[in-house]
Amino acid sequence: MNPRRLLYAIAVIVTLAAGLQTARPTQMNATPPYKDPKLGLEQRIADLLGRMTLDEKIGQMCQSSSFPHPFSDQVKGEIRKGRWGSFLNAGEPRDRAEAQRIALSESRLGIPLIFGRDVIHGYRTIFPIPLGQAASWDPDLIRQAARIAGREASGAGIHWTFAPMIDIARDPRWGRIAEGLGEDPYLTATLGAAMVRGFQGESLSAPDSIAACAKHYVGYGAAEGGRDYNTTWIPENLLRNVYLRPFRAARDAGAATFMSAFNDLNGVPTSGNAFTLRQVLRKEWKFDGFVVSDWDSVIEMVPHGYAADLKDAALKGVQAGVDMEMSSNSYAVNLKSLVEAGRIAPTLIDDAVRNILRVKFRMGLFDRSATAPAGSTSAPTPDALATARKLAAESIVLLKNEGRVLPLAKSIGRIAVIGPLADSPVDQMGTWVLDGRAEDVRTPLAALRHALGEAQVLWAQGLKNSRDTARDGFAAASEAARKSDAVLLFLGEEQILSGEAHSRAFLSLPGAQAQLVEEVAKTGKPAVAVILAGRPLTFQEVTAKVQAVLYAWHPGTMGGPAIADVLFGDAIPSGKLTATFPRTVGQVPIYYAHMNTGRPPSPNELGIPMGNPVDPRGYTSKYLDVDYTPEYPFGFGLSYTKFEYSNMRLSAARLPLGGSLTASADIANSGGMEGDEIVQCYVRDLVGSITRPVRELKAFRRIHLKPGEKRTVEFRLSTDDLAFYKDGGELVAEPGMFHIWIAPDSASGLKGEFEVVR
Ligand code: BGC
Repeated sequence: MNPRRLLYAIAVIVTLAAGLQTARPTQMNATPPYKDPKLGLEQRIADLLGRMTLDEKIGQMCQSSSFPHPFSDQVKGEIRKGRWGSFLNAGEPRDRAEAQRIALSESRLGIPLIFGRDVIHGYRTIFPIPLGQAASWDPDLIRQAARIAGREASGAGIHWTFAPMIDIARDPRWGRIAEGLGEDPYLTATLGAAMVRGFQGESLSAPDSIAACAKHYVGYGAAEGGRDYNTTWIPENLLRNVYLRPFRAARDAGAATFMSAFNDLNGVPTSGNAFTLRQVLRKEWKFDGFVVSDWDSVIEMVPHGYAADLKDAALKGVQAGVDMEMSSNSYAVNLKSLVEAGRIAPTLIDDAVRNILRVKFRMGLFDRSATAPAGSTSAPTPDALATARKLAAESIVLLKNEGRVLPLAKSIGRIAVIGPLADSPVDQMGTWVLDGRAEDVRTPLAALRHALGEAQVLWAQGLKNSRDTARDGFAAASEAARKSDAVLLFLGEEQILSGEAHSRAFLSLPGAQAQLVEEVAKTGKPAVAVILAGRPLTFQEVTAKVQAVLYAWHPGTMGGPAIADVLFGDAIPSGKLTATFPRTVGQVPIYYAHMNTGRPPSPNELGIPMGNPVDPRGYTSKYLDVDYTPEYPFGFGLSYTKFEYSNMRLSAARLPLGGSLTASADIANSGGMEGDEIVQCYVRDLVGSITRPVRELKAFRRIHLKPGEKRTVEFRLSTDDLAFYKDGGELVAEPGMFHIWIAPDSASGLKGEFEVVR
């Protein structure tokens, strides 16, 4: 036997012996140290770990998705034996309470279960899809929404949510773009951290807090072709500067858990990836919570062609640092024999179990009794509904408002409400809604009837759903339009057209929606399109036929009243896009923070002559058949009032490494209404040791201005904010020239420059 094997064998014998010994019911009456809340966390973990058998340890590493309601004797028996550490998305609140009672009082060591669930954008009260929430650029409101979700979910016996999803997505074909916060690492980091704080509250151990799970670690959003679960190739510097950054922020915000993803990353599946899980997450970031795999992602290393069989998958999962296996049972079946054969060091098992127990202790699960939750089925509170309404209103982006057709006067007369998304509660909630209920949802049709009175609203669906191609409803829609003073068209995508495994190859409005708009537009009535969707769509043909466009995403329970608030000017639109809207799917992937290339199609900023007078864009990076610019840039969104930016100044023209400077500009409300503006600060590092993006968001602020009011907005940037990662993980701030913008979006703004010097 080689010495390594021998050491393993000794460690295995010691571990098994420890288990046998503590399995004996000695000291029945003395409270063991791990049950003493006055002792230190690590001391409690060490004491408990020392008492656990290998089977009990492996049990902690297994999460079951099979939890029948009613709760079966078989599952009860398994819990008594310590077979499971966690359950997900299963059971009714009272079953969960009973399961926890059994775990705490009838299993040998009384180790609590942790119940996980996908509480993605609300539990019972559904907030806008995350991509919509992001368009509010309002971290505090997003935190409040997550707090409400945490309260509602914990009331139903949920301990842990699989959120926030902080995958950067730069391809709207990918259905899961709906679940993330957009294309930008800084914004996603800021808003994702706000969600973590909201779910987890002031203290993880508070009974109304739930543990967050930063997912999907990592690179999942870069799926080739926008096809879900597809391969990702991300060079290390891009991985660190873009994809890892929000995860680092989630870790810094105290996220209790991480989820390893489905994708293979640079040839290694992320659920078997020791570089991202051990080197970056544990070694560099010192993360001490636990990592759960995504659903079956451990065993999917077999079809990935990275593991030979389920045993090999379990081995690779544990070696890479996946502490808990979700759904599949390769750990349950294989870990014991892998340890006994000396292929997995017992210390690796101990490390994983320690991470899991640490979270359970931190959450106070050992120190709470399992009482059946009272508020599990309660309807959303007025406070929750008010927050949902505010967040939905802030998430709406005004894309067009020709002739100031919006806001509508409440005295407008009659309106025609047309389209498949005007009265579709389930669709309006969007993807990942396990606990939201259609009966709680207030649709745009209901809200408009409430605001104007039934008689003033002429309703004609036009199409049965967003994919419908039958035109039999068109005549009634045109008739309603003819009889009205204005037309509101509720278009977009149904719930099932975005989310997991719901990618699309086309970004156009599905079905015959564009034709419906064309038909209705023939009436010549002023028309507003309100688009409810889970991703950026392409809809120029509609924009051309209507006077105004509002992008409302899937706005959740209170989407209807929020849309009505914006339509009538009770809320002034302030949302800004967090994902670039392409002109056509052929431009995808398209994002604002791209590199300049050696042949940029834009007027050359660096002063090198390019092109020729006949075809000034010559042999440049462009398309022959469509402009290279997006339909709407990242950060874009209009208001009913007008904001003017002036007087950009910098506190210094030269910035020594390690120092900081202040950039400021005056923002004035020169329109006739009060409103919020999201002021954005971007930089460009002109020359780097690796090429740098043409713009990068570094800061933003939401300000409220009354008509005629002017305010100076200041941003403080240090050279740390300008630093970037190189391959190998080195973080550098380099001397040289920088451009800086204070801007209403990523494609315009006031510009200054400064130099970073040694
Ligand atoms: C998804 C995760 C989710 C998990 C549990 C998976 O299919 O990718 O985001 O948390 O299921 O439901």
